[in-house]
Amino acid sequence: MTLQAEPARPHDVNDALDLLRRLDLPETDVAERWGHYFVVHEDDGRVVGVAGLEVHGDDGLLRSVAVNVDYRRQGLGASLVEAALARAARLELRSVYLLTTDARDYFSRQGFTESPREKAPAAIRESWEYTTGCPSTAVLMRREVTRR
Ligand SMILES: CC(C)(COP(=O)(O)OP(=O)(O)OC[C@H]1O[C@@H](n2cnc3c(N)ncnc32)[C@H](O)[C@@H]1OP(=O)(O)O)[C@@H](O)C(=O)NCCC(=O)NCCS
Repeated sequence: MTLQAEPARPHDVNDALDLLRRLDLPETDVAERWGHYFVVHEDDGRVVGVAGLEVHGDDGLLRSVAVNVDYRRQGLGASLVEAALARAARLELRSVYLLTTDARDYFSRQGFTESPREKAPAAIRESWEYTTGCPSTAVLMRREVTRR
């Protein structure tokens, strides 16, 4: 069966946290905001990919995009980003933002463009990821949400 992103279920959270931990990505707020997360399951049920959409005011924040090293370069990351963007469209959000230190080129390929940090909406600027989770050197990127 082709692996692809699907809405996360409550019991996927621990597996997803394990994956984030192994890749040195922060776990803060992930379980608390699990409602708009997506995962990729291996056939045996293991979580091999994760991505989350946090809603902040009228906009979304994409975070925790991570794929198990053994499952990379087969489009799973792209499928997770696409699922989060589709959810953002369903929620009628305006834009989806993200902060990244070393995956700027990856997200450019997913249609995100760099945006001045100080121009982020207030609700995004108040998020944990913005205030604490990402270093001040992280680049802010934005993609407008299009109706589907
Ligand atoms: C970024 C990540 C999610 C991509 O997952 P993936 O399933 O391999 O992604 P896709 O299959 O959709 O795309 C793979 C392509 O992206 C490229 N790519 C992967 N990471 C990249 C990065 N940091 N910068 C630029 N390009 C990157 C790969 O080289 C590959 O290119 P190719 O198609 O020319 O071979 C994965 O590499 C990962 O988990 N990285 C560690 C966590 C991380 O940095 N997350 C993003 C910030 S939150």
